[in-house]
Amino acid sequence: MGQAKIYYDSDADLGVLSNKKIVFLGFGNQGSAQAQNLRDSGIPNDQILIANRVDSYAETAKAKGFHVEHDFATAAKVADVLFILIPDQVQPRVFNEQFSPKLKSNATIVVASGYNVFFNLLKFQPGQDVVMVAPRMIGSSVRSLHEKGRGFPCFVSVEQNGTGKGLDAALALSRAIGATKQGAIASSVREETVMDLFAEQALWPNIIMMFREAFNILKDAGCSDEALCYEMWMSKEPAEIFERAADDGFVAQLKHHSTVSQFGQLSGSLKLEGGAMREHFKDILYNQILSGKFCEAFSQIEDDLDKEGDTNPLNELYKRSEEMELVKAEKRVRARLAGLL
Ligand code: NAI
Repeated sequence: MGQAKIYYDSDADLGVLSNKKIVFLGFGNQGSAQAQNLRDSGIPNDQILIANRVDSYAETAKAKGFHVEHDFATAAKVADVLFILIPDQVQPRVFNEQFSPKLKSNATIVVASGYNVFFNLLKFQPGQDVVMVAPRMIGSSVRSLHEKGRGFPCFVSVEQNGTGKGLDAALALSRAIGATKQGAIASSVREETVMDLFAEQALWPNIIMMFREAFNILKDAGCSDEALCYEMWMSKEPAEIFERAADDGFVAQLKHHSTVSQFGQLSGSLKLEGGAMREHFKDILYNQILSGKFCEAFSQIEDDLDKEGDTNPLNELYKRSEEMELVKAEKRVRARLAGLL
């Protein structure tokens, strides 16, 4: 609770990585960015190995001059450090079956997301270090900000300190990928997972629901599709408000709005007590997220997410969302703007 420790470059010693074989499982959004940043930080190319199945990502890694190993057992055997940077839903299967049995008993395993570690879905040996280095940024920005000599926000934690030197490794690896330049915030897989899942399952669903209902009510009151789409999101006003909130302050950004708007927003929000929402949020947090109920339900459908068509549960949800008046209206407006109607 309270203030979190923040680690900077000066807290990390890259020396602890000397002669260590660093394996990146995956060369996608995060893998390609982190591996390139790490190499730029002076880790010799021969110390870096990209473990990737035969696909276009592997080709990209080769084109960028990295050593690539398609046989995961071979990559696992040589890894002193293993970054797990493949999609979260495939990690348990790939790691537990193909890496875990062959990994060194004192290897350092790095995750960029807390989910699989928090819900105990990955099998580690007691002597291994398990650390989280989780950039709070999409992969392309992890790379481009580093190239510009800047850092990016990142969470760091030691979840299992098998060697007793887990923090030294976590900080050195954070520094090597450029994550301590701006300051890496001490966190945990619990904190990272809870905040991510809460935003995804509580905050944003309510925001989507509020936009949906606001759209319907204003449309019933006679507002046009065009005016509503522009007013509510296509003008990018909400994006601008959030940018100002990040720069000036969550409430302080209101000063950029008209006096009528400031008065309406402040008096309106302070009038809303939030009791029902609080109960709803707590229910999602405790009974859906922390109880493991969501994780269990998601594990059941994971394999179906690779399917084509309506049997893929995500496609089914998209299809149902298309029924929202907001979505239908937006389609018409966009078609008209493109001159198709
Ligand atoms: P991605 O979707 O870009 O992963 C692609 C890579 O995974 C490729 O190298 C591909 O060969 C490999 N891959 C995919 N399916 C595979 C399978 N079945 N077997 C073996 N290899 C497979 O992954 P992304 O988005 O970089 O995510 C990696 C980790 O980083 C995740 O834990 C994610 O939560 C975390 N993260 C991602 C962010 C992002 O920018 N997307 C931001 C912060 C964290």
